[in-house]
Amino acid sequence: MALSSYLKKERNRHLGELKELLAIPSISTDPERAKDVKRAAQWVSKRLKKAGCTKVRVHPTERHPIVYGEWLGAAGQPTILVYGHYDVQPVDPLNLWKSDPFTPTLRDGKLFARGASDDKGQVIVHVNALEAHLKNGGCPVNVKFLIEGEEEIGSPNLDKFIDGNKELLSCDAVVVSDTAMFAKGRPSVCYGLRGLAYVEISVTGTDRDLHSGTFGGAVANPANALVTMLDSLKDSRGRIKVKGFYDNVVRMSATERRAFARLPYSDTKFRKSIGAPALHGEFGYSTLERIWTRPTLDINGIWSGFTGEGAKTVIPAEANAKVSMRLVPDQTPDEIVRKLTRHLRSVAPKSVKVEVRDLHGGNAWVTPPDRPALQAASRAMQRAFGRKAVFVREGGSIPVVDTFDRKLRVPCVLMGFGLQDDNLHAPNEKIDVDQFYGGIEAAAYLMEELGEVGRRGSKAKPRASRKR
Ligand code: BES
Ligand code: MN
Ligand code: MN
Repeated sequence: MALSSYLKKERNRHLGELKELLAIPSISTDPERAKDVKRAAQWVSKRLKKAGCTKVRVHPTERHPIVYGEWLGAAGQPTILVYGHYDVQPVDPLNLWKSDPFTPTLRDGKLFARGASDDKGQVIVHVNALEAHLKNGGCPVNVKFLIEGEEEIGSPNLDKFIDGNKELLSCDAVVVSDTAMFAKGRPSVCYGLRGLAYVEISVTGTDRDLHSGTFGGAVANPANALVTMLDSLKDSRGRIKVKGFYDNVVRMSATERRAFARLPYSDTKFRKSIGAPALHGEFGYSTLERIWTRPTLDINGIWSGFTGEGAKTVIPAEANAKVSMRLVPDQTPDEIVRKLTRHLRSVAPKSVKVEVRDLHGGNAWVTPPDRPALQAASRAMQRAFGRKAVFVREGGSIPVVDTFDRKLRVPCVLMGFGLQDDNLHAPNEKIDVDQFYGGIEAAAYLMEELGEVGRRGSKAKPRASRKR
């Protein structure tokens, strides 16, 4: 109780500190923002020190630094590793923001800023939780923080850091808050994420743009060729036609299917919330099944030829597309990119050249929800949000979660406080202030619950329960 009244008292300070971090434009993909990314890393390291971490380091990488912090004062108790990211996505189109993306602005109980929900707000939750315990008699678990600055560009330097620092990162459970809650008032614990394979496709025809009257009809048009090739990737029932694409897909169990069907969810509400005329997806699966358990193939961008005002009669020399595929266990990005490349080459007409470049990717992840660490998270969420937590999977990707699972061999607890309408990666990103405060409580309770799991003896320790 002391803890929760302390947290209520500190609310304004917590919000003010979050605003400070949100004001730093740490856009990892933009080389011009590299100094700001560094400044955000330093802000996080200072905050970790102030919260009570006894060792804090900012590790440089080839690009953006990794911040590490630890408080290991709970002798004999389990250790958790909190992972998150302080980098953010670009802000364009800027004109659609109602307030400046790096001037955090409160409207209607929501704090608007780039990174508010993804992931600065959710990282700070855990820092505040540790500090709260340390100011109220001590923390029931040891806590390590690994907060990176390259998540939004595919974490190119993180695996190397993990490989080189196994001892530093050793723990009994990894805790990540970088996802959403099932709905406002419906706490959830996430036990699965999709993976990702992202490619760029270029189709080239002639060595320059051509007049479509004097040459049209005698040469291939790369834009026509590209759309024909892309069209061959999916059938009318939403199935991906790349040979072998589904070979390694683990099918969901009947139990899981029933559990999803019991969740309070409405297609109509979902459809209306995104302004879609109708829903669309793979035949034979419900919306939640499609998002959580099935792989996808989507064109994320496509460009070629003349797109300016008016008409220009031209046959473009090249056409390009960005295509990404969400993956599910046990598909791997390498295997899927290989299969896609083979498919595209086999359907490409001889009159064009095709190039497929692998941009980045990561594995999907699923873990059994009955693991003690996930059950502890479910109790913590219930205590903080006043309602029984549901177990969900998510459609988004956090590739390092599977890496932690495999390399550290510990359970990963995904406890997200975002909401579906947080506008991640889009204009007007926000965090609901109640979710932020509730998240801090949940994170503090999770430390207590995991401390209890540890105290019940080694058999019940999260580390001893690994199974896949
Ligand atoms: N936090 C998101 C992932 C996410 C969001 C998972 C919502 C579940 C629910 C993360 O920052 C992200 O944007 N991931 C990227 C992939 C990454 C490799 C760039 C994604 O999912 O597109
Ligand atoms: Mn994120
Ligand atoms: Mn993101």
